[in-house]
Amino acid sequence: MDIVPLDFAAEPVRLAEFHALAADWAAPGPRLPAHLFRLLAERGWRAMPAETWLAIDDDRVIGGVTLHLPDRDNTHLALIRFLQVASGHRRRGVGGALLAHAAERARAANREMLLVEVVEAGPGEAFAQAKGMREVATLARRVLDLARFAPPEREVPGYRLEFLRGRTPEPLITEMIMFLETMNDAPLDDLSVNEERWTPADVEAMEDPWDETRQDVFTVIARADDGSPAAFTRLFADSVEPGGWARQTDTAVIRAHRGRGLGMWVKEANTAWLKRARPELQRVITWNAVANGPMVAINERLGYEFLDVWHEWELRV
Ligand SMILES: CC(C)(COP(=O)(O)OP(=O)(O)OC[C@H]1O[C@@H](n2cnc3c(N)ncnc32)[C@H](O)[C@@H]1OP(=O)(O)O)[C@@H](O)C(=O)NCCC(=O)NCCS
Repeated sequence: MDIVPLDFAAEPVRLAEFHALAADWAAPGPRLPAHLFRLLAERGWRAMPAETWLAIDDDRVIGGVTLHLPDRDNTHLALIRFLQVASGHRRRGVGGALLAHAAERARAANREMLLVEVVEAGPGEAFAQAKGMREVATLARRVLDLARFAPPEREVPGYRLEFLRGRTPEPLITEMIMFLETMNDAPLDDLSVNEERWTPADVEAMEDPWDETRQDVFTVIARADDGSPAAFTRLFADSVEPGGWARQTDTAVIRAHRGRGLGMWVKEANTAWLKRARPELQRVITWNAVANGPMVAINERLGYEFLDVWHEWELRV
């Protein structure tokens, strides 16, 4: 077996073989379509340096690892985005060899640790334990059945809602940065992760691939009557191969506006909008730190039901 780098542009067959291994990495959650898999492996949503290494046996891809190397915040970390071994090739040291290679690459890039997200009680957890990783955070995934979602129309006095489909318009970029930086308030358990800072160029870089990868992005903003931004939430649905799924991502309420039901309101309004705009979608998936009591409570009131638990593991390199 050899471990070789993947050249995304020049090696479409190898890319397709690695995608076939990794597309269902989050099952029973949504399958990753090829165009989205390529984006996530090649550069991630935040356009960061990344490398993918493949385990090749007899000219076939039998495993692979994708490493992201943050270059603005958290430069002490290397993130394992995908680590997969084909089911017929497991328990023969392939995963261990890929992990050792990733650790070597992380060290070469002056990183102190590797971080990886793994579903509870699967082979990945046994592997992480066997490799001496430390569990540092717990997340739960929940799913909302859109057929059963019928929230009442309601208002929150003193606030109004704005609906944006697609990219953030230029005049709202400064506000978007405020919202994205408010995401730093989410609990981190024992993760040694620093706050993420955003610039207008970062927002643009994050949104650039939305069109190319056919992401249909729904954002609702709550604004106070005096014009100040108060809360935001975002849903994504693939336009080409959604497989019935939408994904609930960021939600943030600016500190001065917390405790007034705005988090619930923006999520409810956005989900109702998504359901009207994309009636073929069946469900929404979301993931939260188990420690994030307020967000989990909102999701349960919206009708989200528990799916499974994931842990983040770290390995000092
Ligand atoms: C996790 C995964 C990458 C491991 O790949 P692999 O090639 O089977 O790993 P290795 O053969 O190098 O396993 C090394 C050790 O991990 C442990 N391990 C791996 N899989 C295990 C399992 N299913 N049950 C119990 N222990 C396991 C064992 O201690 C194993 O050593 P041993 O076989 O000598 O007992 C593979 O199962 C996989 O692709 N799983 C789905 C994706 C995933 O969970 N990725 C996240 C990984 S952190």
